[in-house]
Amino acid sequence: MSSQQAPRPGFPTTRLRRLRYHPAVRELVGETRLSPANLIQPLFVRPGERVRAEISAMPGNYQFSPDLLAEEVGRAGELGLGGVILFGIPAEKDETGSDAISDTGILAEAIRAAKRAAPDTLLITDLCFCEYTSHGHCGPIGEATGRTDVDNDATLKLLAEQAVVHARAGADVVAPSGMMDGMVGAIRRGLDGAGFSHVPIISYAAKYASAFYGPFREAAESAPQFGDRRGYQMDPAAAAGQAMREIELDLAEGADIVMVKPALAYLDIIRDARQRFPGVPLAAYSVSGEYSMIKAAAQRGWIDERAIVLESLTAIRRAGAGIILTYWAKEVARWLA
Ligand code: PBG
Repeated sequence: MSSQQAPRPGFPTTRLRRLRYHPAVRELVGETRLSPANLIQPLFVRPGERVRAEISAMPGNYQFSPDLLAEEVGRAGELGLGGVILFGIPAEKDETGSDAISDTGILAEAIRAAKRAAPDTLLITDLCFCEYTSHGHCGPIGEATGRTDVDNDATLKLLAEQAVVHARAGADVVAPSGMMDGMVGAIRRGLDGAGFSHVPIISYAAKYASAFYGPFREAAESAPQFGDRRGYQMDPAAAAGQAMREIELDLAEGADIVMVKPALAYLDIIRDARQRFPGVPLAAYSVSGEYSMIKAAAQRGWIDERAIVLESLTAIRRAGAGIILTYWAKEVARWLA
């Protein structure tokens, strides 16, 4: 009897529109949710008082002086964000980026101000030298290899010092972004040796040499003065498996959370990382270029900013990132409220 046979897959037995007909059913079967608790707001800090200088390539983002930054960090906490990540622009840049390893440098000062104002808001700091060096590269330049290049191993020593400076000022988490070989291990040893074995490391593990960082380099005043970063950041054309090797190495060196960056053009890498390392917290950085593209189109009235942002962030989460760094973090928290 045909009525006792198992239903055949396909139409008309199966109508997937039944899952979309009732709005409450759509809600019920939704699996990818955005929550402010998983979002991190990047913030820029520069010397001064009462400074709030808009970044022209990133409307709605500012360089703050430490006093106003502290208020901003407080607001992020009140909105329930997962945390903030700080980038510093020093008063003076030099060959080695010495402001970055000074207890009176811009970031140390900003961390202390933010911790005084908002002690409970998770404070993450970016560990790198490109904002602090006169040449704009991510570590001191040397000729050791016979060619002008960032000196990898000299940078490791400085990164460990920078991490300790940040932790001593009150940073809760440090996030090395320079793509130096061995950076996570060097920072871990530095922190542990200074009594900060409880401070986690979010590693920018798979960070690509990307044109999507363009607006950030205006925001952080960190464009390289010669050459580019392709000698240390990853080649977008490299095998996706190279990103897995980067992540694997960082985990072996002690990374607690690993990051893929940028996000939207690298959803395949996020997906691979999620599947390959299911037990590791995974972050993705939706970078400045992703922000500015959408912002510019929205300002012209060509797209619906809120809808596009929520759709993009949902895609990044669906690909497998649990944590997203985004310049819309505060905005999204307000939209979701
Ligand atoms: C390096 C750093 C960069 C970004 C975060 N950390 C810039 C770079 O590698 O040139 C880019 C973030 C963005 O574009 O939003 N300290």
